[in-house]
Amino acid sequence: MTTLTYRDYLHIDKLLSIQAPRTPDTAGTEVVLAEHFFIVAHQTTELWLKQIIADLGAAAEALAPDPSRGQEGLAASDGELSAEFLLRANDLLLLLYNQLVALEKLPLRLFAEFRPFLDNASGAESAQFKAFSTLLGDDQSDGKLYETFRAATECAGTSVAEVCRLGVHSGVHHRIAELLLDIGNAYWRWKVAHLGVMSRSLGEQSGTGGSSGATYLAGRLAMPFGELRRLRGEVHAEMAAHHAAQRAA
Ligand code: HEM
Repeated sequence: MTTLTYRDYLHIDKLLSIQAPRTPDTAGTEVVLAEHFFIVAHQTTELWLKQIIADLGAAAEALAPDPSRGQEGLAASDGELSAEFLLRANDLLLLLYNQLVALEKLPLRLFAEFRPFLDNASGAESAQFKAFSTLLGDDQSDGKLYETFRAATECAGTSVAEVCRLGVHSGVHHRIAELLLDIGNAYWRWKVAHLGVMSRSLGEQSGTGGSSGATYLAGRLAMPFGELRRLRGEVHAEMAAHHAAQRAA
């Protein structure tokens, strides 16, 4: 009987054969290795993004209101399941952040040497990053994840505003709201770190995708979960009004 090996189970040969620096070998080992580092950073990001998108999709699915439950709303176990997925997505985003920071150590002279071989290839073309951003939404429009959360609160006879007001007293809804904000802030931190890596290594040069580079990326910094943030802010105004009413009484 043959036993499954680590190498076969994980398709290691295939995995390790898809890093293909375009720098010619004649350029020297340090340039080829620098490009290899750049490729691995992008490929692993795409791999983790695959997991993050799937986890966020599963988190939304677990939250999706079940009409058969009526006003009972979210089953506690579904809420916890959703939270478990959100927690993993958040941990993975932190990992992507650290990985990006490692790219700051890409030696400039070597990057300048292999960059022409990238042609017009650019991270801006990443279909997975776009899907991820759409799922999260931004400060102007809510993504599917937040919309499902809002629907789950309404189905339970409460609201996101109420969840913000009650905090821990709203149970698993509060836990999910906090995790959404963790993820939103981790996404923002990744974007700021990416701008930092980019501006450190390119200055005012334009991107391989044809954008203005730093100016373009700075203009794309947006915070997900705009409504949730606004509703949290309103808790201060409500509390201030409450204090004022007490003083007047
Ligand atoms: C030395 C490292 C890096 C540099 C200099 C860099 C540079 C840039 C630039 C200039 C852009 C703007 C679009 C363009 O004109 O090309 C961009 C966009 C982007 N890059 Fe990078 N990048 C780096 C690393 C990474 C890594 C490791 C990833 C991970 C996959 C990544 C993902 C992206 C994404 C998703 C966008 C689109 C961002 C958005 O639409 O807001 N980049 N990058």
